Amino acid sequence: MPKRDFLQITDFSSDELENLFNLAVHLKGLTERGESPSPLDGKAFACIFHKPSLRTRISFEVGISQLGGTSLYITNQEIELGVRESIPDAARVLSRFVDGIVIRTYSHADVEQLAESASVPVINALTDFTHPCQVIGDLLTIKEHLGTWSGKTVAYLGDGNNVARSWINAARRLDFTLRIGTHESTQPGELVDTARNEGANVEVVFDPVEAVSGAHVVYTDVWASMGQKEASGERANVLRAFQVNSELLSHAHEAAIVMHCLPAERGREITDEVMDGPQSVVFDEAENRLHAQKAILTMIAG
Ligand code: CP
Ligand code: NVA
Repeated sequence: MPKRDFLQITDFSSDELENLFNLAVHLKGLTERGESPSPLDGKAFACIFHKPSLRTRISFEVGISQLGGTSLYITNQEIELGVRESIPDAARVLSRFVDGIVIRTYSHADVEQLAESASVPVINALTDFTHPCQVIGDLLTIKEHLGTWSGKTVAYLGDGNNVARSWINAARRLDFTLRIGTHESTQPGELVDTARNEGANVEVVFDPVEAVSGAHVVYTDVWASMGQKEASGERANVLRAFQVNSELLSHAHEAAIVMHCLPAERGREITDEVMDGPQSVVFDEAENRLHAQKAILTMIAG
């Protein structure tokens, strides 16, 4: 069987995603009972992180360990990917040692190049372009809190960034409406047209109230992502009206849940009142990164 990578949510079909979520629910149930199968027994994973990480790194390392495998945390100081040697050469060498590569870096093209040359599965743990593992955990959280995403409206507020684009990819495979509320200067780019041309329900609106109106999920992320923090001031100016606060949330569905991939910049894209309020599920969402990733690892490397 050819190896499978997970670089984008669209690497999985709708049916495979359905199986993935069922597996994640199953693995979460086992974890809660203190059990875990060991599909990664004897397997090693290189976890390459060129950007900081709390949730992604720890959930991958703990998840790999719970599934019986071993993880190696590698920063760019050790391998200097693409500098000390070419990305294809590093991919070929890593493939002789490990059974999978998890990578968080800047350039999505670098991750694609790594995956092309590696003979072992490669998992995208965030690039400037997308953050697919995050949105898999998010969808699992929606399934738990709302029963389904089917027919629901997810309002994504703020910067049209890597997380927003993974939401667009999710909408290309699953039956929900994605409404992105952002400024004209911070739109997610041409992926919106790709998704729409495929028939996905993806809307982009420039009015925050219109964006959240009747939404079942109100989602936000930092206004300036890692590697773009110099744009913080300018982003705050254009995105201020998209802050998830009590007033804006009052326009969503009365049973709406509030989500944030974290880390949050409290007082900017989300207020304390909302993040610590009764509609917030942000810490369930963080926990679900573990269960979602165990399912991804099991599906492509187990
Ligand atoms: N949400 C998320 O990916 O968090 P980290 O950057 O801490 O991994
Ligand atoms: N958009 C954020 C997500 C962090 C998990 C970033 O890339 O910094």
